Amino acid sequence: MDAAPRGARIKGLGHHLPDRVVTNHDLAELLDTTDAWIVQRTGIEERRWVTGDVGASELAEPAARAAMDRAGITADQLDLIVFATLSPDVYFPGSACLLQARLGCPGVAALDVRNQCTGFVYGLAVADHFIRSGMMSRVLVVGAEVHSTGLDMSPAGRDVTVLFGDGAGAAVVEATEGPERVLGHRLHADGQHAELLWVPAPQSRTMPRIDQQMLDAGLHYPHMQGRAVFKHAVERLPEVVLGVLEDHGLGLDDLDLLVPHQANLRINELAGRRLGLPEHKVVHNIQRYGNTTAGSIPIALSEAVADGRVKPGSLVCLAAFGAGLTWGASLMRWA
Ligand code: ACO
Repeated sequence: MDAAPRGARIKGLGHHLPDRVVTNHDLAELLDTTDAWIVQRTGIEERRWVTGDVGASELAEPAARAAMDRAGITADQLDLIVFATLSPDVYFPGSACLLQARLGCPGVAALDVRNQCTGFVYGLAVADHFIRSGMMSRVLVVGAEVHSTGLDMSPAGRDVTVLFGDGAGAAVVEATEGPERVLGHRLHADGQHAELLWVPAPQSRTMPRIDQQMLDAGLHYPHMQGRAVFKHAVERLPEVVLGVLEDHGLGLDDLDLLVPHQANLRINELAGRRLGLPEHKVVHNIQRYGNTTAGSIPIALSEAVADGRVKPGSLVCLAAFGAGLTWGASLMRWA
């Protein structure tokens, strides 16, 4: 009998959030906002923000170490680090290189993925396919963001600043020949809508890449057309979940848990209702952490595994939507 084709599975997960809790009431003192507005529009009650000079790779290190401990491996056994982030420590080199140095594993390949809220799903697909091809056997996939240092703390930024939190999640993805594995992915993008949610500066189109005029105009802060993004998200999320299930001859009744990106509780509730999924099958933690972008799915998955919502044999779908626009989903049978 032929051996089962080589595949990949998540062997260990970890997450890390800064200690500093920032409540909506704290933000109401800075911005022209209220706890009631934020909770009603987004579901967010509090988020974590770093204290002092902490970059994405520093935030990611404890999450990566926890994932490797749970997988029973050391950093020198990795073949590749994939780092998904929109808030890299520096403009270049990528945060994967900086994390690799922190983990002390020189020579291990390092790759940054710049796909915003869909970054972890894209990163997992990269890991899965390097492993399927036989080129690699162990990949660390990280999603980490430090948003707080890049947000407009004046009332002009209130629509975006209240949404974002700092945080990191990580997964060790390993080769397997068993049926409990990552089954497949759907990945999408539509760059025509790039300007619905973006940070316009610094940019390589101008010299210098950022100047006082750009700073005065707040171009170094995220700018978002919230309503338009919301409308795209509630269409694309259900569509991509159904698509990835259909690719594998599966339906919503087969699904044990949906782990969506945490951008807005209302988006995820609406997407869950459109799919007809019972509430207990959709993971939410945005109330505590806000939108941690590439970090949100691995943090939510790590919590769901730790508290027993993901069990051996569970069919789990990760689904994301974000800036780019980008969206995608990964489907897996949990080992
Ligand atoms: N506090 C109080 N009032 C506010 C705030 C605030 N923090 N922010 C905006 N408002 C006001 C506006 O000024 C506006 O006032 P007006 O009616 O007097 O003009 C009113 O509230 C309504 O503003 P909208 O922007 O229309 O509010 P909306 O109901 O659309 O909610 C929100 C805004 C929560 C941002 C929503 O549009 C949303 O969640 N969009 C999607 C976000 C998302 O998914 N992003 C993608 C992922 S992130 C990533 O990829 C990096």
